[in-house]
Amino acid sequence: MDSQAVLASSVYNKGFTDASIEVNGVAKSYGPVVALKGLSFQLTSGEKCALLGPNGAGKSTTLKLLVGLLKPDQGEAKVGGLDPSSAEARKIIGYLPEDASPYRTLSVRENLEYVGALREVENLEERVETLLDTLTLREYERAKVGRLSRGNTQKLALALSIIHSPNILLLDEPLNYLDIPTQENVISLLNEQKNCTELVSTHIMSVAGRLTDHVIMISRGAVVWTGVISDLKKLGAENEPVEKIVARMLTSIA
Ligand SMILES: Nc1ncnc2c1ncn2[C@@H]1O[C@H](COP(=O)(O)OP(=O)(O)O)[C@@H](O)[C@H]1O
Ligand SMILES: [Mg+2]
Repeated sequence: MDSQAVLASSVYNKGFTDASIEVNGVAKSYGPVVALKGLSFQLTSGEKCALLGPNGAGKSTTLKLLVGLLKPDQGEAKVGGLDPSSAEARKIIGYLPEDASPYRTLSVRENLEYVGALREVENLEERVETLLDTLTLREYERAKVGRLSRGNTQKLALALSIIHSPNILLLDEPLNYLDIPTQENVISLLNEQKNCTELVSTHIMSVAGRLTDHVIMISRGAVVWTGVISDLKKLGAENEPVEKIVARMLTSIA
């Protein structure tokens, strides 16, 4: 083996994967409703970023484009350098949709086993046990999803989104429906995902701040600000709550 091949194989053996996210000049409309107008941003492999914006800003549409559920009218979206709808891209992506709905007639355990099998998860039995404990679903493992509370359904949907240890995680308002202790648990879980690029949508500033320092703020289908939260605070008066600064930025461009 020549030195180039040795290098390539060692990189491969360490599980190196391009886990970047790129959105370049994306426009998307639903009939007459313009959802995104020339949206652009990038995340490098391993970066964790909040996609912050008010209701209707285009957050869910952006995530749907990045998982290949929608196609841009203009521009392009790429994950790991790939077309999001390709089979290769699907393997490295984990996605939590808005109002996620696991299989209602299956139990919590059956959902994990079924989705894990479809995802060809190695050591699936062990992974299911870990996720039942991590997301405090053990006492509901035999319960049918149709009978779960909205919060427990959300915990299961989160478990399903990470069951295959994805390199890229796209989460649409992951803390919705969760009580405060569970929110804390999920925040730690998301912060612990190593070697994983995370784009997490939220309309709540404090949620963004707990998950990551990095923020892409969007409004009316376009980026209005990107940066770290400490810089965002500098845009306001001393001791001004960051929520107020964000609200002013969003109304000034409205
Ligand atoms: N399926 C749809 N049909 C028509 N309009 C839609 C549809 N989905 C979203 N929209 C509109 O597109 C815009 C962006 O929506 P969305 O991406 O869901 O925003 P967010 O997730 O930030 O609340 C909103 O004006 C919304 O009403
Ligand atoms: Mg949404």
